[in-house]
Amino acid sequence: MDELVQPFEAEVGRVLEIVVNALYKERAIFLRELISNASDACDKLRYESLNRPELLGSDPKLEIRIVADPGTNILSVVDNGIGMDKDELAANLGTIARSGTARFLEQLTGDRAKDLKLIGQFGVGFYSVFMVADKVIVRSTRAGQDKGWIWASDGKTGFTVREDEEPLPRGTAVILHLKDDAKEFLDAARIREIVRTYSDHIAFPIILEAKPRPGDTRTKAHEPQQINKASALWARPRSEITEEQYREFYHHVAHTFDDPFARIHFTAEGTLSYTALLFLPAHRPFDLYDPRRRHGVRLYVRRVFITDQLEELLPRYLRFVSGVVDSEDLQLNVSRETLQHGIVVQKMRRQLTKRVLDELARKASETAETSASATAGETGEPDGEVKKGPSYLDWWAEFGAVLKEGLFEDPDNRERLLELARFKSTRGPGWVSLAEYVARMRPNQDQIFYITGESAEALRTSPQLEAALAKGCEVLLLDDAVDEFWLGEVKEYQGKKFVSLTKGEVDLSRIPDEGKIETPDELYDEDLKRLLAKLKALLGEEVKDVRASKRLRESAVCLVADEHGLDFRLERILRQHHQIERLARPVLEVNGRHELIRRMAAMAKDASREQDLAELAKLLLDQARIVQGEPVPDPGAFSRRMSAFLARGLPAAA
Ligand SMILES: Nc1ncnc2c1ncn2[C@@H]1O[C@H](COP(=O)(O)OP(=O)(O)OP(=O)(O)O)[C@@H](O)[C@H]1O
Ligand SMILES: [Mg+2]
Repeated sequence: MDELVQPFEAEVGRVLEIVVNALYKERAIFLRELISNASDACDKLRYESLNRPELLGSDPKLEIRIVADPGTNILSVVDNGIGMDKDELAANLGTIARSGTARFLEQLTGDRAKDLKLIGQFGVGFYSVFMVADKVIVRSTRAGQDKGWIWASDGKTGFTVREDEEPLPRGTAVILHLKDDAKEFLDAARIREIVRTYSDHIAFPIILEAKPRPGDTRTKAHEPQQINKASALWARPRSEITEEQYREFYHHVAHTFDDPFARIHFTAEGTLSYTALLFLPAHRPFDLYDPRRRHGVRLYVRRVFITDQLEELLPRYLRFVSGVVDSEDLQLNVSRETLQHGIVVQKMRRQLTKRVLDELARKASETAETSASATAGETGEPDGEVKKGPSYLDWWAEFGAVLKEGLFEDPDNRERLLELARFKSTRGPGWVSLAEYVARMRPNQDQIFYITGESAEALRTSPQLEAALAKGCEVLLLDDAVDEFWLGEVKEYQGKKFVSLTKGEVDLSRIPDEGKIETPDELYDEDLKRLLAKLKALLGEEVKDVRASKRLRESAVCLVADEHGLDFRLERILRQHHQIERLARPVLEVNGRHELIRRMAAMAKDASREQDLAELAKLLLDQARIVQGEPVPDPGAFSRRMSAFLARGLPAAA
C-alpha cells in the first residue's frame, strides 16, 4: 500500500487495541454491526430519494447482500444505500462517532477481561470487524456521485483512502479478509443463525450468497436467498414478535446492548393513525446530560424512514426514549417545516408522552405491589418466580433527575410527574413518593417540608431540620440541581405547599412535638432579645437579620435564606454559572435553648465583655456558614478565634 497511510484518531486506536486481539466469544456481533450500518445507509438513501428520486437511478430496490467465499476466505457485506464519498470514508471510519462506541470508551477500565466484556455490552460499531479480519477493505460510492473510493486498513497502523478504478454503482461493500480462526463466518448455516439472532428485524432484505468451497463438488452453489423477514418489526402483529426480536430491535435503534427497562408497542387509530414502538433504557446513557443529546425515536411514514432528528416528537425530559413511530397520516415528502410545527406531530407528541408516563406509572405500581408482597413474604408472580429486571425505584435512581425536568418544562403533565416522582427523605435510606409523604404527615401538618443541597446524606444532619424532626415530621432531601428549578414552578401537591426549611420563616408550633407539647414563648425572653440586637449590630452588613430560631433544637445557630431571596443551593448554582455575582445576605438564626446562646445572652448584659461578644458573634456566623457549605470569608481569622476560645475552655498550662 503506497498510498498515504492516515493514522486512526487516538480514540479509534484505543478501541482497536482491544478489539484486534479480542478473543471474544461473541465475535459474531461484527455481522450485526455491519448489517445495522448497511440498514441505516439504506434508510438514509430512501429518505434522500424522496426529494431526489434520481438517486435511486435504475436500482430502486434497496437490499443488503452477504457474500461468503470460502475460496478466498473473504466475507463481504454489500448495500446499495447512501454510500460515502472520500471525506466521509476518512471521517466515519477513522474517528469515533458519537455512537455506541463512544459509550464503550467511556466505560473502559483498563482491566482487559472486563473491557472485553464491554465489547458485547456497548458494541464497537464498524471497528468490531477487526475481531475477525486482519485486513478490511471498504469500497463505497456516494449516491448521486460517479467516483467511488476504497478505504483499506489492517486495523493497526492506520488506513488509506484511494480512488476506486471500478467504482460500485452506489452504496458500500465492506470486504473482510478473515483471520484463520474466523473461517466459521463463511459457513452459510452460521451466517443464517447470526442474522436470525441479531438482525431479523432489519426492514431491508438480507440476501445470502454462499459460494461453494473450491473443489467441493458435493455442495452445489447456493442460490442467493433472502434470510430475514425484512418486514418492519413494529408493523408485525405483537403476538408474532418474540422477546428476543424486540430486544435485538432495541439494540439496533438505541445503539445499546442492555435490556430495556420498558417497552411500549401500540397502534393508534382514529384522528391520528400511527404505530409506535418505544423503549426506555434501564441504564443512564453516558451523554444523558449532554445538551446535544436528543431522543432516539425515528419517524417513519408508511414504513419509509424519514428522520431521526425530529426533536418535537418528544419533550426533552424524555430524551432517553428510543424507538420508532410510523405515521399513516403524514405525507412521504413532508417538509421539515410541517414536521416541526405541524398539528400531526404536536398531537403525536402529546399522545406519546402520555403513553410513556402511563407505562412508568404501571411500572411504579408494579414495584409497589412487588415490594408490598415481598415484605408480606409473598413472591409476586403466580408461579412463584420473582420479577426480573430493575425495579421502578432502581430506574428512578438513574433517570429521576431528568424526569423531574418535566415538572419544570411540561405544565400539562405536572400532576402526573409529581405522582411518578420519588424522593429521598429523613424517613430512611429508601425512596418515598409524595403520596406516601402526605399519607404519613403529622397532625396539624399541612406543608411538605424539604431541604435542598449537594448530597442527601449530608443534608440529613442539617441543623435546620432539628425542630421538624423533633416533631416527627418527615423532610424531603432534594439533591438534584433540577430540584431548585421545578420547585420554583410547582408550589404545592394536593393542596399542600412545598416549604423549604432553609428559607424564610417556618412555623411548626401547631404540630405537636413527638412526646411533649412546647410553649414557644419561653425561649424569647428579654436577655435573648438584647443578645439578638447586639449580634445584629456586631455583624452589621454580613447578615440580613439575626433572629430567634423556631427550627433549631440541638444546634446553636444556622443560616436561613431571606424569605424573598433565593434558596442557598439555587444561589450557589446561579453563581457557579455566573448568572449572579454575589450571594445575598443570609439571616442568622440562634437557638435560644442552647447553652452557648444562654451564656452569650448573659454576657451581653456586661458591656466590658463587648469585645468577646463580637468575637463570638463572628465565630458563630462562620460556624453557620461552614454548616451551610458556604465559604468562610476569612478562614485564618476563624481558626484563630476558634483556637482562642477553645484555649479558654482548657485549664491553664502549669
Ligand atoms: N455501510 C455503510 N454505508 C454508509 N455509511 C456507513 C456504512 N457503515 C458505516 N458508515 C458510516 O460510518 C459511521 C460509523 O459507523 P459505526 O458503526 O462505527 O458507528 P454508528 O453506526 O454511527 O454507531 P454504532 O456505534 O451504534 O454502530 C456511521 O455513522 C456511518 O456514517
Ligand atoms: Mg454502526
